[in-house]
Amino acid sequence: MTDARSSAPAVDPSPAPVLEVSDLTVDYPQRGGRPLRAVDHLSFGLRAGQTLALVGESGSGKSTVVRALARLQRPSSGTVQLGGRPRTGAAAYRREVQMVFQDPFASLNPAHTVDHHLRRPLIATGRARRGAPADAAVRELLESVNLTPAADMAAKRPHELSGGQRQRVAIARALAPEPRILLADEPVSMLDVSIRLEILNLLDQLKRRHGLALLYVTHDLATARHFSSEVMVMYRGTVVERGPSDAVILNPAHPYTRLLAESAPSTGASREQARAARRERLDQRARRTAEQRETTAEGGCPFRGRCPSVMDICAQRPPVAAVGAGHQALCWLHREGPEH
Ligand SMILES: Nc1ncnc2c1ncn2[C@@H]1O[C@H](COP(=O)(O)OP(=O)(O)OP(=O)(O)O)[C@@H](O)[C@H]1O
Ligand SMILES: [Mg+2]
Repeated sequence: MTDARSSAPAVDPSPAPVLEVSDLTVDYPQRGGRPLRAVDHLSFGLRAGQTLALVGESGSGKSTVVRALARLQRPSSGTVQLGGRPRTGAAAYRREVQMVFQDPFASLNPAHTVDHHLRRPLIATGRARRGAPADAAVRELLESVNLTPAADMAAKRPHELSGGQRQRVAIARALAPEPRILLADEPVSMLDVSIRLEILNLLDQLKRRHGLALLYVTHDLATARHFSSEVMVMYRGTVVERGPSDAVILNPAHPYTRLLAESAPSTGASREQARAARRERLDQRARRTAEQRETTAEGGCPFRGRCPSVMDICAQRPPVAAVGAGHQALCWLHREGPEH
Protein backbone atom coordinates (compact mmCIF):
# COMPACT_ATOMS: atom_id res chain seq x y z
CA MET A 1 0.00 0.00 0.00
CA THR A 2 1.43 3.34 -0.97
CA ASP A 3 1.10 6.13 1.53
CA ALA A 4 -1.72 8.12 0.01
CA ARG A 5 -0.93 11.14 2.10
CA SER A 6 2.83 11.29 1.83
CA SER A 7 2.86 14.38 -0.37
CA ALA A 8 -0.04 16.14 1.34
CA PRO A 9 -0.05 18.07 4.58
CA ALA A 10 -2.26 16.63 7.32
CA VAL A 11 -4.88 19.31 6.79
CA ASP A 12 -5.35 20.81 3.35
CA PRO A 13 -4.58 24.49 3.67
CA SER A 14 -6.57 25.62 0.61
CA PRO A 15 -9.14 28.01 1.99
CA ALA A 16 -12.26 28.03 -0.15
CA PRO A 17 -14.55 25.00 0.06
CA VAL A 18 -16.05 23.81 -3.22
CA LEU A 19 -19.04 22.47 -1.32
CA GLU A 20 -20.47 24.21 1.71
CA VAL A 21 -22.84 22.50 4.11
CA SER A 22 -24.47 24.76 6.69
CA ASP A 23 -26.72 23.62 9.50
CA LEU A 24 -27.99 20.66 7.51
CA THR A 25 -30.87 18.91 9.23
CA VAL A 26 -32.84 15.98 7.83
CA ASP A 27 -35.94 14.64 9.58
CA TYR A 28 -37.71 11.54 8.36
CA PRO A 29 -41.43 11.47 9.11
CA GLN A 30 -42.43 8.48 11.24
CA ARG A 31 -45.84 6.97 11.18
CA GLY A 32 -47.71 7.93 14.34
CA GLY A 33 -44.81 9.65 16.06
CA ARG A 34 -42.22 12.37 16.13
CA PRO A 35 -40.03 12.57 13.06
CA LEU A 36 -36.67 10.84 13.22
CA ARG A 37 -33.80 13.33 13.10
CA ALA A 38 -31.27 11.52 10.91
CA VAL A 39 -28.95 14.54 10.53
CA ASP A 40 -28.84 17.26 13.17
CA HIS A 41 -27.44 20.72 12.30
CA LEU A 42 -24.37 19.54 10.43
CA SER A 43 -21.91 22.08 9.00
CA PHE A 44 -18.69 21.44 7.08
CA GLY A 45 -16.89 22.32 3.88
CA LEU A 46 -15.26 20.12 1.24
CA ARG A 47 -12.16 21.49 -0.47
CA ALA A 48 -10.62 20.66 -3.82
CA GLY A 49 -8.01 17.93 -3.53
CA GLN A 50 -9.20 16.98 -0.06
CA THR A 51 -10.55 13.64 1.12
CA LEU A 52 -12.83 13.97 4.10
CA ALA A 53 -13.91 10.72 5.76
CA LEU A 54 -17.32 10.38 7.36
CA VAL A 55 -17.39 7.47 9.80
CA GLY A 56 -19.93 6.11 12.24
CA GLU A 57 -21.89 2.98 12.95
CA SER A 58 -24.93 1.80 11.05
CA GLY A 59 -27.86 4.19 11.22
CA SER A 60 -25.75 7.17 12.30
CA GLY A 61 -26.93 9.14 9.27
CA LYS A 62 -23.97 8.92 6.88
CA SER A 63 -25.97 7.95 3.79
CA THR A 64 -28.58 10.55 4.62
CA VAL A 65 -25.82 13.19 4.53
CA VAL A 66 -24.66 11.84 1.16
CA ARG A 67 -28.18 11.82 -0.23
CA ALA A 68 -28.77 15.38 0.92
CA LEU A 69 -25.46 16.46 -0.65
CA ALA A 70 -26.43 14.71 -3.90
CA ARG A 71 -29.83 16.45 -3.72
CA LEU A 72 -31.59 13.09 -3.60
CA GLN A 73 -33.01 13.99 -0.20
CA ARG A 74 -34.49 17.37 0.62
CA PRO A 75 -33.10 18.85 3.84
CA SER A 76 -35.62 19.81 6.53
CA SER A 77 -33.48 22.88 7.12
CA GLY A 78 -30.03 24.20 6.35
CA THR A 79 -28.27 24.52 3.02
CA VAL A 80 -25.88 22.63 0.76
CA GLN A 81 -24.32 24.74 -1.95
CA LEU A 82 -21.40 24.90 -4.31
CA GLY A 83 -18.68 27.17 -2.98
CA GLY A 84 -18.89 30.66 -4.40
CA ARG A 85 -21.96 29.69 -6.43
CA PRO A 86 -24.88 29.79 -4.05
CA ARG A 87 -27.73 29.57 -6.53
CA THR A 88 -26.57 26.83 -8.89
CA GLY A 89 -29.41 25.33 -10.93
CA ALA A 90 -30.31 21.67 -10.51
CA ALA A 91 -28.67 20.44 -13.72
CA ALA A 92 -25.37 22.24 -13.11
CA TYR A 93 -25.33 21.07 -9.49
CA ARG A 94 -25.93 17.43 -10.47
CA ARG A 95 -23.08 17.64 -12.93
CA GLU A 96 -20.66 19.00 -10.34
CA VAL A 97 -21.59 16.58 -7.57
CA GLN A 98 -21.36 12.90 -8.48
CA MET A 99 -21.78 9.72 -6.45
CA VAL A 100 -20.22 6.30 -6.25
CA PHE A 101 -22.51 3.83 -4.50
CA GLN A 102 -21.74 0.85 -2.32
CA ASP A 103 -23.10 -1.82 -4.65
CA PRO A 104 -21.76 -1.49 -8.18
CA PHE A 105 -24.02 -4.26 -9.46
CA ALA A 106 -27.19 -2.53 -8.30
CA SER A 107 -26.00 0.81 -9.65
CA LEU A 108 -25.44 -0.47 -13.21
CA ASN A 109 -28.20 -1.53 -15.58
CA PRO A 110 -27.75 -5.24 -16.46
CA ALA A 111 -29.35 -4.70 -19.87
CA HIS A 112 -26.77 -2.17 -21.04
CA THR A 113 -23.14 -2.34 -22.07
CA VAL A 114 -20.33 -0.47 -20.35
CA ASP A 115 -20.18 1.76 -23.41
CA HIS A 116 -23.83 2.74 -22.96
CA HIS A 117 -23.31 3.56 -19.27
CA LEU A 118 -20.43 5.93 -20.07
CA ARG A 119 -21.65 7.40 -23.34
CA ARG A 120 -24.93 8.64 -21.89
CA PRO A 121 -23.49 11.07 -19.33
CA LEU A 122 -20.81 12.16 -21.81
CA ILE A 123 -23.46 13.14 -24.35
CA ALA A 124 -25.95 14.46 -21.79
CA THR A 125 -23.39 16.87 -20.40
CA GLY A 126 -22.13 17.90 -23.82
CA ARG A 127 -18.65 16.46 -23.25
CA ALA A 128 -18.98 14.29 -26.34
CA ARG A 129 -21.05 14.26 -29.50
CA ARG A 130 -22.52 11.09 -30.91
CA GLY A 131 -20.23 9.01 -33.08
CA ALA A 132 -16.46 8.84 -33.23
CA PRO A 133 -15.65 11.63 -30.72
CA ALA A 134 -17.80 9.83 -28.14
CA ASP A 135 -15.89 6.61 -28.83
CA ALA A 136 -12.66 8.39 -27.97
CA ALA A 137 -14.13 9.92 -24.80
CA VAL A 138 -15.43 6.51 -23.65
CA ARG A 139 -12.01 4.99 -24.30
CA GLU A 140 -10.28 7.73 -22.36
CA LEU A 141 -12.61 7.24 -19.40
CA LEU A 142 -12.04 3.48 -19.38
CA GLU A 143 -8.30 3.95 -19.54
CA SER A 144 -8.42 6.46 -16.69
CA VAL A 145 -9.90 3.75 -14.43
CA ASN A 146 -7.50 1.11 -15.81
CA LEU A 147 -10.14 -0.92 -17.64
CA THR A 148 -8.20 -2.07 -20.65
CA PRO A 149 -8.23 -2.96 -23.47
CA ALA A 150 -10.90 -0.27 -23.55
CA ALA A 151 -12.63 -1.54 -26.71
CA ASP A 152 -13.20 -5.00 -25.16
CA MET A 153 -14.37 -3.54 -21.86
CA ALA A 154 -16.77 -1.13 -23.56
CA ALA A 155 -18.63 -4.01 -25.21
CA LYS A 156 -19.24 -5.93 -21.96
CA ARG A 157 -22.35 -5.97 -19.81
CA PRO A 158 -22.22 -5.72 -16.00
CA HIS A 159 -22.59 -9.49 -15.40
CA GLU A 160 -19.49 -10.14 -17.51
CA LEU A 161 -17.35 -8.07 -15.15
CA SER A 162 -15.90 -8.75 -11.70
CA GLY A 163 -17.09 -6.69 -8.73
CA GLY A 164 -13.98 -4.54 -8.88
CA GLN A 165 -14.35 -3.95 -12.62
CA ARG A 166 -17.99 -2.98 -12.10
CA GLN A 167 -16.97 -0.46 -9.46
CA ARG A 168 -14.38 0.94 -11.90
CA VAL A 169 -17.19 1.42 -14.44
CA ALA A 170 -19.29 3.17 -11.79
CA ILE A 171 -16.33 5.44 -10.99
CA ALA A 172 -15.76 6.19 -14.70
CA ARG A 173 -19.44 7.04 -15.07
CA ALA A 174 -19.25 9.41 -12.09
CA LEU A 175 -16.24 11.13 -13.69
CA ALA A 176 -17.90 11.47 -17.10
CA PRO A 177 -19.54 14.85 -16.35
CA GLU A 178 -16.21 16.19 -14.98
CA PRO A 179 -17.50 16.81 -11.47
CA ARG A 180 -15.68 18.81 -8.82
CA ILE A 181 -17.10 16.79 -5.96
CA LEU A 182 -17.29 13.01 -5.58
CA LEU A 183 -19.39 11.39 -2.86
CA ALA A 184 -18.34 7.80 -2.22
CA ASP A 185 -20.73 5.98 0.12
CA GLU A 186 -18.91 2.85 1.34
CA PRO A 187 -17.45 2.34 -2.14
CA VAL A 188 -15.53 -0.85 -1.33
CA SER A 189 -17.43 -2.58 1.46
CA MET A 190 -19.18 -4.99 -0.94
CA LEU A 191 -15.98 -5.85 -2.79
CA ASP A 192 -13.51 -8.66 -2.27
CA VAL A 193 -10.90 -7.80 0.34
CA SER A 194 -8.09 -8.29 -2.16
CA ILE A 195 -9.26 -5.46 -4.40
CA ARG A 196 -10.50 -2.91 -1.86
CA LEU A 197 -7.21 -1.09 -1.60
CA GLU A 198 -6.80 -1.08 -5.38
CA ILE A 199 -10.12 0.71 -5.77
CA LEU A 200 -9.37 3.14 -2.92
CA ASN A 201 -5.96 3.86 -4.46
CA LEU A 202 -7.66 4.49 -7.79
CA LEU A 203 -10.10 6.95 -6.18
CA ASP A 204 -7.16 8.65 -4.51
CA GLN A 205 -5.23 8.98 -7.78
CA LEU A 206 -8.28 10.31 -9.62
CA LYS A 207 -8.89 12.80 -6.82
CA ARG A 208 -5.34 14.10 -7.24
CA ARG A 209 -5.40 14.11 -11.03
CA HIS A 210 -8.69 16.03 -11.26
CA GLY A 211 -8.41 18.07 -8.05
CA LEU A 212 -11.65 16.54 -6.78
CA ALA A 213 -13.12 17.06 -3.36
CA LEU A 214 -13.88 13.56 -2.08
CA LEU A 215 -16.26 12.59 0.70
CA TYR A 216 -15.41 9.04 1.74
CA VAL A 217 -18.08 7.32 3.83
CA THR A 218 -16.85 4.23 5.60
CA HIS A 219 -16.99 2.01 8.67
CA ASP A 220 -13.32 1.29 8.30
CA LEU A 221 -11.18 3.58 10.43
CA ALA A 222 -7.92 2.21 8.99
CA THR A 223 -8.72 3.26 5.41
CA ALA A 224 -10.35 6.48 6.67
CA ARG A 225 -7.03 7.32 8.28
CA HIS A 226 -4.94 6.27 5.31
CA PHE A 227 -6.90 7.96 2.55
CA SER A 228 -8.28 11.09 4.17
CA SER A 229 -6.75 14.19 5.66
CA GLU A 230 -9.69 14.80 7.98
CA VAL A 231 -12.34 12.70 9.65
CA MET A 232 -15.82 13.43 10.99
CA VAL A 233 -17.29 10.91 13.40
CA MET A 234 -21.06 10.77 13.39
CA TYR A 235 -23.34 9.40 16.05
CA ARG A 236 -27.12 9.52 15.66
CA GLY A 237 -27.06 12.38 13.23
CA THR A 238 -24.54 14.48 15.15
CA VAL A 239 -20.85 14.89 14.44
CA VAL A 240 -19.34 14.14 17.85
CA GLU A 241 -15.69 14.50 16.84
CA ARG A 242 -13.78 15.93 13.89
CA GLY A 243 -10.23 16.80 13.03
CA PRO A 244 -7.06 15.64 11.27
CA SER A 245 -7.38 11.89 10.67
CA ASP A 246 -4.30 10.84 12.63
CA ALA A 247 -5.39 12.86 15.64
CA VAL A 248 -8.98 11.59 15.60
CA ILE A 249 -8.17 7.94 14.96
CA LEU A 250 -4.94 7.50 16.91
CA ASN A 251 -5.89 9.82 19.73
CA PRO A 252 -9.68 9.89 19.92
CA ALA A 253 -11.15 12.34 22.39
CA HIS A 254 -14.83 11.41 22.35
CA PRO A 255 -15.86 8.23 24.21
CA TYR A 256 -17.82 7.13 21.14
CA THR A 257 -14.79 7.44 18.83
CA ARG A 258 -12.75 5.52 21.40
CA LEU A 259 -15.33 2.75 21.32
CA LEU A 260 -15.29 2.72 17.52
CA ALA A 261 -11.49 2.62 17.44
CA GLU A 262 -11.40 -0.29 19.91
CA SER A 263 -14.04 -2.33 18.09
CA ALA A 264 -12.88 -1.50 14.56
CA PRO A 265 -13.23 -4.44 12.18
CA SER A 266 -10.13 -4.97 10.09
CA THR A 267 -9.88 -4.02 6.42
CA GLY A 268 -8.91 -7.62 5.83
CA ALA A 269 -12.35 -9.07 6.65
CA SER A 270 -13.48 -11.54 3.98
CA ARG A 271 -16.55 -10.89 1.88
CA GLU A 272 -18.52 -13.42 3.97
CA GLN A 273 -17.38 -11.70 7.17
CA ALA A 274 -18.32 -8.36 5.63
CA ARG A 275 -21.78 -9.71 4.74
CA ALA A 276 -22.26 -11.10 8.25
CA ALA A 277 -21.08 -7.77 9.66
CA ARG A 278 -23.53 -5.97 7.39
CA ARG A 279 -26.42 -8.19 8.61
CA GLU A 280 -25.38 -7.46 12.18
CA ARG A 281 -25.25 -3.75 11.34
CA LEU A 282 -28.76 -3.85 9.92
CA ASP A 283 -29.99 -5.47 13.14
CA GLN A 284 -28.14 -2.88 15.16
CA ARG A 285 -29.62 -0.20 13.00
CA ALA A 286 -33.18 -1.36 13.66
CA ARG A 287 -32.47 -1.36 17.40
CA ARG A 288 -30.83 2.05 17.29
CA THR A 289 -33.64 3.56 15.23
CA ALA A 290 -36.01 2.49 17.99
CA GLU A 291 -33.69 3.97 20.66
CA GLN A 292 -33.23 7.09 18.60
CA ARG A 293 -36.95 7.67 18.42
CA GLU A 294 -37.08 7.61 22.20
CA THR A 295 -34.25 10.02 22.79
CA THR A 296 -34.50 12.43 19.84
CA ALA A 297 -35.56 15.86 20.98
CA GLU A 298 -34.72 15.10 24.60
CA GLY A 299 -31.61 17.25 24.34
CA GLY A 300 -28.31 16.46 25.98
CA CYS A 301 -25.53 14.31 24.61
CA PRO A 302 -26.85 11.79 22.07
CA PHE A 303 -24.32 9.21 23.30
CA ARG A 304 -25.05 9.45 27.00
CA GLY A 305 -27.18 6.27 27.08
CA ARG A 306 -24.17 4.18 26.01
CA CYS A 307 -21.30 6.25 27.33
CA PRO A 308 -18.94 4.63 29.86
CA SER A 309 -18.00 8.09 31.17
CA VAL A 310 -21.54 9.49 31.51
CA MET A 311 -22.02 12.30 34.08
CA ASP A 312 -25.07 14.20 35.29
CA ILE A 313 -24.17 17.18 33.14
CA CYS A 314 -24.49 15.04 29.98
CA ALA A 315 -28.24 15.63 30.13
CA GLN A 316 -27.35 19.10 28.85
CA ARG A 317 -26.16 19.70 25.32
CA PRO A 318 -22.36 19.20 25.35
CA PRO A 319 -20.05 22.02 24.22
CA VAL A 320 -17.81 21.83 21.17
CA ALA A 321 -14.42 21.51 22.86
CA ALA A 322 -11.09 22.12 21.14
CA VAL A 323 -8.88 19.13 21.98
CA GLY A 324 -5.99 19.82 19.57
CA ALA A 325 -5.12 21.73 16.42
CA GLY A 326 -8.24 21.65 14.25
CA HIS A 327 -9.51 18.80 16.44
CA GLN A 328 -12.85 19.13 18.21
CA ALA A 329 -15.03 16.89 20.34
CA LEU A 330 -18.61 17.45 21.39
CA CYS A 331 -18.21 16.28 24.95
CA TRP A 332 -18.40 17.55 28.54
CA LEU A 333 -15.20 15.64 29.38
CA HIS A 334 -13.23 18.18 27.39
CA ARG A 335 -14.89 21.43 28.33
CA GLU A 336 -11.59 22.67 29.73
CA GLY A 337 -9.42 21.53 26.84
CA PRO A 338 -7.44 18.32 26.33
CA GLU A 339 -7.00 15.80 29.12
CA HIS A 340 -3.55 15.62 30.64
N1 LIG B 1 -36.07 6.90 3.81
C1 LIG B 1 -36.04 6.81 5.14
N2 LIG B 1 -37.19 6.93 5.86
C2 LIG B 1 -37.18 6.87 7.21
N3 LIG B 1 -36.07 6.67 7.96
C3 LIG B 1 -34.91 6.52 7.30
C4 LIG B 1 -34.83 6.58 5.86
N4 LIG B 1 -33.53 6.41 5.50
C5 LIG B 1 -32.84 6.26 6.64
N5 LIG B 1 -33.66 6.32 7.72
C6 LIG B 1 -33.24 6.26 9.14
O1 LIG B 1 -32.33 7.34 9.33
C7 LIG B 1 -31.24 6.95 10.15
C8 LIG B 1 -29.95 7.17 9.39
O2 LIG B 1 -29.89 6.28 8.28
P1 LIG B 1 -28.68 6.26 7.23
O3 LIG B 1 -29.01 5.32 6.16
O4 LIG B 1 -28.38 7.66 6.85
O5 LIG B 1 -27.49 5.69 8.15
P2 LIG B 1 -26.03 5.17 7.74
O6 LIG B 1 -25.10 5.80 8.71
O7 LIG B 1 -25.78 5.38 6.31
O8 LIG B 1 -26.12 3.60 8.05
P3 LIG B 1 -25.37 2.36 7.32
O9 LIG B 1 -24.00 2.34 7.91
O10 LIG B 1 -26.17 1.16 7.74
O11 LIG B 1 -25.38 2.58 5.86
C9 LIG B 1 -31.49 5.50 10.53
O12 LIG B 1 -32.10 5.49 11.80
C10 LIG B 1 -32.43 5.01 9.45
O13 LIG B 1 -33.26 3.98 9.96
MG1 LIG C 1 -25.32 4.10 4.73
